[in-house]
Amino acid sequence: MGGRIGVVGSNMVDLVTYTDRIPAAGETLAGRSFMMGPGGKGANQAVAAARLGADVMLVSRIGDDMFGGGTIRGFQEVGLDVRHVRAVPGISSGVATIFVEPSGENRIVIARGANDCLLPEDVDAASVDLKECSLILLQLEIPMETTYHTIEWAKREGIEVLLNPAPAVQDLDLSSILHATFLVPNQTELAVLTGMPTETRAEVEAAARSLVARGLKAVIVTLGADGALLVREGPSVHVPSVKVTPVDTVGAGDAFIGAFAEHYVRSRDLVAAIEWGVRYAADSVTRPGAQKAYADAEAFARFRESLEAPQGAGSTA
Ligand code: RIB
Repeated sequence: MGGRIGVVGSNMVDLVTYTDRIPAAGETLAGRSFMMGPGGKGANQAVAAARLGADVMLVSRIGDDMFGGGTIRGFQEVGLDVRHVRAVPGISSGVATIFVEPSGENRIVIARGANDCLLPEDVDAASVDLKECSLILLQLEIPMETTYHTIEWAKREGIEVLLNPAPAVQDLDLSSILHATFLVPNQTELAVLTGMPTETRAEVEAAARSLVARGLKAVIVTLGADGALLVREGPSVHVPSVKVTPVDTVGAGDAFIGAFAEHYVRSRDLVAAIEWGVRYAADSVTRPGAQKAYADAEAFARFRESLEAPQGAGSTA
């Protein structure tokens, strides 16, 4: 097992409806099926890393409602250190309403609930334990001031930080995130951050390079079925994905980050960790749900073996 991973981030209850298409405004549509499961970008990333065997602590806030108890029990089952996961009196849990189309594409609306109550002082209260971590994962489903504060604190402590700027926000203060070791956006988030087009790989590279020029050390752009692109000083590295048939892409980016983090803290090999994350995310989209779809180390090993098999290499995209 490598270094400890800290996640300062959100948790949500995912209410997922599988539907043939997204309803138009004013339209009521019968969906195909419904599933409820644990989600939230912070918790997803923590759970993915833990399922693969990483030692993970989570700093998060749950609601004072029917969902809170189940959420914390789920974290304990997967082995997360939950000493800094607390319930907020009188506030609802974070909830994500999600529509998934047959292609696996998703659309998400979140109500952040208790996640909005995770404040800088809560990070300070967890700092003695966070100091034991060699990498801290952050996303943008908690107050922005908490994210900035954690980056600043980690910089003072010499702890590496991965920031996943998701969901995309227009007003992210670049000067407050420059000390993140890794910035991991998807194409949409990169476009919002830079105001540049990110449709083609060349556009993605140019947009990511503009962030490196402004002082970010390494930008890892997740490209969905096209894998990931690492952009830093020097040549960029494209890591292709593997072919699978997606059924549900919810939480695929989080699967990538959790697996990347698990590999990186034990190997310190950036490109190998990206390859690992890309494969883990590919496996995750073959099953419904976010955390529900995340493989443990054994199942992930079987998936990787299936990719190497001469025939039946699984899948076609
Ligand atoms: O990244 C996927 C996650 O985004 C979902 O699990 C949902 O909870 C939203 O936070």
